[in-house]
Amino acid sequence: MSLLPTSRRAVALLLLAACAASARADDTLATVASPDQKISVSLQLSGDGRLAYQVRRNGKPLIAPSRLGFVLANAPQLDGGFTLAGQAVSEHDDTWEQPWGERRYVRNHYRELRLELVQKAQQNRRMALVFRVFDDGVGFRYELPEQPQLPQTRIADELTEFVVAAPATAWWQTAGEMAALEYPIAKTPLSEVGTANTPLTIRTKDGTHIAFHEAALVDYASMWLRKVDGQKLRAQLTPSATGAPVERTGAFTTPWRTMQIADNAAGLYMSDLILNLNEPNQLGDVSWVHPSKFVGVWWEMHLEHSTWGAGAKHGATTDNTKRYIDFAAKHGFRGVLVEGWNLGWDGKWYGDGSEFSFTQSYPDFDLAAASAYAIGKGVRLIGHHETGGNVAHYEEQMDAGYQLYAKHGVDSIKSGYVTDAGTAQFRSAGGGTHYAYTDSQEGSRHYLKAVTEAARYKLAIDTHEPIKDTGLRRTWPNWISREGARGMEYNAWGNPINGVDHEANLVFTRMLSGPMDYTPGILSLEGVKGKPINSTQAKQLASFVVIYSPVVMAADLIENYEKYPGPFKFIKDVPTDWADTRVLHGAVGEYATIARKDRHSDNWYVGSVTDGAARTLSLPLSFLDAGKRYTAEIYRDGEHADYRNSHRFDIVIEKKTVTSKTVLQLKLAPGGGQAIRLAPVGE
Ligand code: NOJ
Ligand code: CA
Repeated sequence: MSLLPTSRRAVALLLLAACAASARADDTLATVASPDQKISVSLQLSGDGRLAYQVRRNGKPLIAPSRLGFVLANAPQLDGGFTLAGQAVSEHDDTWEQPWGERRYVRNHYRELRLELVQKAQQNRRMALVFRVFDDGVGFRYELPEQPQLPQTRIADELTEFVVAAPATAWWQTAGEMAALEYPIAKTPLSEVGTANTPLTIRTKDGTHIAFHEAALVDYASMWLRKVDGQKLRAQLTPSATGAPVERTGAFTTPWRTMQIADNAAGLYMSDLILNLNEPNQLGDVSWVHPSKFVGVWWEMHLEHSTWGAGAKHGATTDNTKRYIDFAAKHGFRGVLVEGWNLGWDGKWYGDGSEFSFTQSYPDFDLAAASAYAIGKGVRLIGHHETGGNVAHYEEQMDAGYQLYAKHGVDSIKSGYVTDAGTAQFRSAGGGTHYAYTDSQEGSRHYLKAVTEAARYKLAIDTHEPIKDTGLRRTWPNWISREGARGMEYNAWGNPINGVDHEANLVFTRMLSGPMDYTPGILSLEGVKGKPINSTQAKQLASFVVIYSPVVMAADLIENYEKYPGPFKFIKDVPTDWADTRVLHGAVGEYATIARKDRHSDNWYVGSVTDGAARTLSLPLSFLDAGKRYTAEIYRDGEHADYRNSHRFDIVIEKKTVTSKTVLQLKLAPGGGQAIRLAPVGE
């Protein structure tokens, strides 16, 4: 491969004269283009000193002039009256290695424009704007230096706009209505978007795809996007319960505002722009973070067969846990998740969480014994910290909870924040608590603190009901996964359950932000009281490849895996850590085919999912090594398979010998999918 990890070139090009000269007649301050010259960003300063940017692709306007700046709560606005104090263009090109991920090596190649701005009429207040233009999109951020005129910055409103130049269709999720990003994904004309979470994905009239999002959300409010008028989206910072949405002291930078840009949906998913805009790994050796699969005491509670709380149906007993440990050991799963082991689940725990203990078990669960039993069989328990959104209460016990797990050899924890939007509880300055959004600035501080503190104990964190992913796994690789969209749990008890297009939506919206703990693999294909889920069995298998996470729960009951040993074999075989990833087909909300190469062997895995429509997709296996023969183990929808009736269970498992020249025809049933394992013959 051409991207060698050793190639590191950071070239400072002082192009001050060439392309970023002083203001021209049309008030353009500077222009910077992507390394391949296809995307260009121009910055403008109007007569009254207001800033705007625009983006062109292949010479055509993509983002029309869009405003930049802030309204402050404690000082005159940072909008208008700017003059340019300096500018520089540089180029950066290096390739870095992910400790785990969708691909091992990531190329970070961009050209950067840095503008130093001054507000002369405001005691020379300073602000910098930094644009990075990649072949696959644009990121920009504001930088506020330390300055006596503005010792504290209280941001009431961020004025950043994204004015989409051409008519577009949007796939988006309402912000602020439901905690945890678990609101269904809608498809509307862009002009009909309300207030959206990000990533927000659009397709313009000519087929160009753009995903709006942010990178490196640290100590700042999450950015929602509000449709203002026409096709104009505007940043709306998640409100704070106690003051301005963002309050910072001294120098700081905002998160990167990002636009991933591609010719098609597949190109969006192939982009590494979000990771590239994050800081490098701060933890060094993270061999203690283990990509792996797990099973757990989980689906049985969601199906109401057992309970998190105490009583005759308590799920997290030592004996039941040992049953899962035996199963995990027998079938090669590294982990066993145990939920409901700790005191506090008996009242109304969600949205309250004040009864939770993170150190005391129910009497019928012995953490030391269960963990020792697991380790004796080469298995690790996966810890669980449900907080009910009570961050204040959790933070008092978090360290003790981490210590306890670390002492018993548990090296990863799934956390949870089940509460309504705006009702997480945080500690107030003078004691007591207040309610706020989990994606507020104080929410962003808490989630990151939970991860950095966990790193001190070599614990990996899988956050449910998280703040959105903005690529911080690059900096903190123990932030191993998170939920952050509707997971399989909605197929147990959701009203409505997940739509048949859910996976094909996720790939090109939520998954653009990072890994998701989706909990696939419900081979029984039913939720509470036998209610069917919108999938065939083959699609359940395909989800292990299509929905990426380094830690993956095979979520079904043990007895269901024992009932379906054929398809279960794929779940046992499929890895969770990849050397490479290729998106081979994709249309947002319709279908997706992804091929991934195992990081520890020469095997490839393919997953393909469709919405309610049957389709036949042609799949050239040109990604395989030329000259090698492979055995393809194919798990495909049966001839009559259909998610709408009992034929959802129809699956055909067959083997074929293939090469890089083979073209397979993937026949996907309505609501169906296909999973393929490709292993070199004789290796
Ligand atoms: C919601 C999580 O997403 C789910 O996985 C978990 O079982 C429950 N909360 C209880 O913590
Ligand atoms: Ca959830």
